[in-house]
Amino acid sequence: MWSSSSSIILTFFSLTFIFSPLVSSDSVQQSFLQCLTSTSQPQFPISDAIFTPNNSSFLPVLNSYIRNLRFQTPTTPKPLLIVTAKHYSHVQSTVVCAKRVGLQIRIRSGGHDFEGLSYVSQQPFIILDLFNLRAINVDIPTQTAWVESGATLGELYYAIAKKSNLHAFPGGVCPTVGAGGHFSGGGYGNLLRKYGLTVDNILDAQIVTADGKILNRQTMGEDLFWAIRGGGGGSFGVILSWKISLVQVPSTVTVFDVDRKIEDGATDVVFEWQQVMDKLDENLFIRLMLHSSKGKSGQKTGKATLVSLFLGPVEKLMEIMNQNIPSLKLQREECFEMSWIQSVLFWANFANGTAPEALLSRKMASTPYLKRKSDYVREPISREGIEGIWKAIMDVEKVGLTWNPYGGRMSEISETATPFPHRAGVKFKIQYSSNWKEAGDEEAEEEIESSRKLYEAMSPYVTNNPREAFLNYRDIDVGSSRNWSLEEGKVYGEKYFKGNFERLVDVKTKVDPQNFFRNEQSIPTR
Ligand SMILES: Cc1cc2nc3c(=O)[nH]c(=O)nc-3n(C[C@H](O)[C@H](O)[C@H](O)COP(=O)(O)OP(=O)(O)OC[C@H]3O[C@@H](n4cnc5c(N)ncnc54)[C@H](O)[C@@H]3O)c2cc1C
Ligand SMILES: *[C@@H]1O[C@H](CO)[C@@H](O)[C@H](O)[C@H]1NC(C)=O
Ligand SMILES: *[C@@H]1O[C@H](CO)[C@@H](O)[C@H](O)[C@H]1NC(C)=O
Ligand SMILES: *[C@@H]1O[C@H](CO)[C@@H](O)[C@H](O)[C@H]1NC(C)=O
Ligand SMILES: *[C@@H]1O[C@H](CO)[C@@H](O)[C@H](O)[C@H]1NC(C)=O
Repeated sequence: MWSSSSSIILTFFSLTFIFSPLVSSDSVQQSFLQCLTSTSQPQFPISDAIFTPNNSSFLPVLNSYIRNLRFQTPTTPKPLLIVTAKHYSHVQSTVVCAKRVGLQIRIRSGGHDFEGLSYVSQQPFIILDLFNLRAINVDIPTQTAWVESGATLGELYYAIAKKSNLHAFPGGVCPTVGAGGHFSGGGYGNLLRKYGLTVDNILDAQIVTADGKILNRQTMGEDLFWAIRGGGGGSFGVILSWKISLVQVPSTVTVFDVDRKIEDGATDVVFEWQQVMDKLDENLFIRLMLHSSKGKSGQKTGKATLVSLFLGPVEKLMEIMNQNIPSLKLQREECFEMSWIQSVLFWANFANGTAPEALLSRKMASTPYLKRKSDYVREPISREGIEGIWKAIMDVEKVGLTWNPYGGRMSEISETATPFPHRAGVKFKIQYSSNWKEAGDEEAEEEIESSRKLYEAMSPYVTNNPREAFLNYRDIDVGSSRNWSLEEGKVYGEKYFKGNFERLVDVKTKVDPQNFFRNEQSIPTR
């Protein structure tokens, strides 16, 4: 559908139409291309990295890293061109030239931004796409690795496991997520209670700043290095690569994935989980998902799904579960021992027996339409509260809640150590997730409205003032910038970063005073 030449021509004309009142896109594009050619190094030609809309690969390249179909429609604004950098100098030229001709850039690594901010803008823009910069260099003797931003988490986990079955990295569970956006946004996964976030395990980084220079930790200084570990991509520069610290895992871990409906005692399970989960052994992570379901006689009910990773043997896990969440009545047969890399496949929903090479695939099983929101819970919820939450979930039907437990290592790291402020005192984080398959504005509006309705119903149980939110679950509803004033930035900035917002503004003002790197939720200057 997208590759037919007629739709390309159509898109090209609508592009010209959208942008012509604002700026002559043709001449800007021409001066940008001239600048790229004149600033790029002859030994690393940039011409092969450039896709203009009249190139038959333009739409396939654009679409291959769109992970939310809401932003892949005929009316979604398209870039004037895409630079698929193959060398660091291409990133430098793109930044220098875009700044020179006054074009906005959008930086894309894995394309998982829930609001499409890495590849959509309402102003004329180009995409700097980093998928070609994906080298991974694992060094077991020093327990470190260098990872380029265009690498995926699946590629990283595969590369680690190839060299050691006793090492891992505490990142997200979806293998196609890109290192670039995930690390800079404070990514997390099922090792969070033992080892914290990705950003708690980063030792160094290389960044291209607004003046086109490449800096590392030493040359960028501790302020900027602090800011890019959780302050978000797209505000400070283009991060090329990261030096990470690997973490240790036992050769055998244990997983389970079980569900219980309300009539099977799910309410007790949820109640016990949220009472104890942040205090349990940090080797244990249990994600809890609450969603609307159907009972035996077809009546509406609620279902709790628990997915776990335990860094240890099944006997020890059974002991902890029977003692602390007895109402789950977890059976030994529901638990599986395996290596860490197999647990990565298990958590990513691959069929039993799938080889680890599956983690190298950049195709997603399905790309649905998505909406996400987030919340943090610091106070225990009463049994009546949980009953009320079930009712709200069954009411909206379309939206599920995913509860991710905190505590453990997360409580030991200071709120100001990185821009990510949701640390000690957080019991768990909530993700609101709505996935749908039908195209069209009407369906989208209904789904998004359902998310907002459930978010409203949850307000008695979650943080307020600020109502804390997780940057990597990007949600444009928590605020957005049109003029990048401090006032506008504070609205979303304090939810994502609490008191760290002010320091992020200081860093931004120092390293990018002209606000070249920006998007709807970037850090403003003073
Ligand atoms: C299916 C799915 C599963 C997910 N699972 C998890 C999870 O388990 N844990 C979790 O924490 N999050 C998860 N996320 C959220 C994910 O971490 C964020 O969306 C993250 O920002 C994605 O990184 P990316 O490189 O793929 O995205 P992109 O869309 O490429 O980038 C996201 C943001 O970072 C900016 N950016 C990207 N690369 C760079 C760079 N090199 N330099 C500077 N700025 C850059 C972009 O401009 C954009 O603003 C998931 C998302 C999806 C869609
Ligand atoms: C499309 O762009 C790529 C990358 O610049 C180039 O290699 C290719 O030749 C172009 N194709 C056409 C038909 O122009
Ligand atoms: C495609 O677009 C580029 C950049 O605008 C231009 O230089 C080139 O001549 C165009 N090619 C064709 C075949 O139209
Ligand atoms: C996978 O299959 C093997 C062989 O049938 C079995 O022993 C193992 O328990 C299964 N693991 C899971 C997670 O289902
Ligand atoms: C920016 O926008 C806000 C409203 O969104 C407005 O109150 C403020 O005056 C604007 N600031 C500037 C400098 O334009």
